[in-house]
Amino acid sequence: MQEGLIKSEEELDKLRQSSLLVGKTLAEVARHIKPGITTLELDKIAERFIVEHGALPGFKGYSGYPATLCTSVNQDIVHGIPDHYALKEGDIISVDCGTIIDGYYGDYAYTFPVGKIDPEVALLLERTKESLYKGIEKALAGNRTGDIGYAVQNHVEPFGYGVVRELCGHGIGRDMHEKPEVLNYGRRGTGMKLEKGMVICIEPMVNLGTRKVIFNRKNGWTVSTADQKPSAHFEHTVVITDDKPEIISTYDFIYEVLKNEK
Ligand code: MF3
Ligand code: CO
Repeated sequence: MQEGLIKSEEELDKLRQSSLLVGKTLAEVARHIKPGITTLELDKIAERFIVEHGALPGFKGYSGYPATLCTSVNQDIVHGIPDHYALKEGDIISVDCGTIIDGYYGDYAYTFPVGKIDPEVALLLERTKESLYKGIEKALAGNRTGDIGYAVQNHVEPFGYGVVRELCGHGIGRDMHEKPEVLNYGRRGTGMKLEKGMVICIEPMVNLGTRKVIFNRKNGWTVSTADQKPSAHFEHTVVITDDKPEIISTYDFIYEVLKNEK
């Protein structure tokens, strides 16, 4: 029994609320993703939106992180720090967002195209998102974290993509990063056993080229691909049950925005 990792119904409700707000915030950001806007402007939009909804940004101040969003463009995989870079047509941008409501964290991400993108990169986004859902299918009581990692890896590696190994998904609750670690690769039947009431974030980071990464030593945060090719990142938050994974994060608000742009 994993004390603390099993959430009560009351705790789950707070996590659901926090997660819902992340989904709405990502959609608010999505509305503004256009060539010319800077990642810092996106950050301000997200921060205002979260505060207006009575919550706290989950990332700001976390281990000294300076912003509300992680905005990781093209070869940046995760933990891109918002700055004066202006998006341009053909870019992709992973927007990762965190909130705190009543002490409980929301944390998830979506990678957006900026205008028209290279078809090869569009496929990378699509397949990375698919791999997230493959992983989610395995997020059931009695399974192990390695079942999730295997499912993710097995979906994307046959395309020749690189699965990032240095970073992983995680449990979530009163802390943004709780046990278990949820790797995006591995062997079935290995890792921590999942139990009903655990809440985990699954977040594949998949590179078009090599899986090798570089850590930015200047800003202390940003992780990029070693070959500078693009990388995709999608994250959902899931409650472990006996039968059907309950995805408490949502892309529905994002899809509503993207649909209206077509
Ligand atoms: N979602 C990110 C993660 O799980 C959060 C990164 S920014 C941080 O690593 F500063 F909040 F860590
Ligand atoms: Co996360």
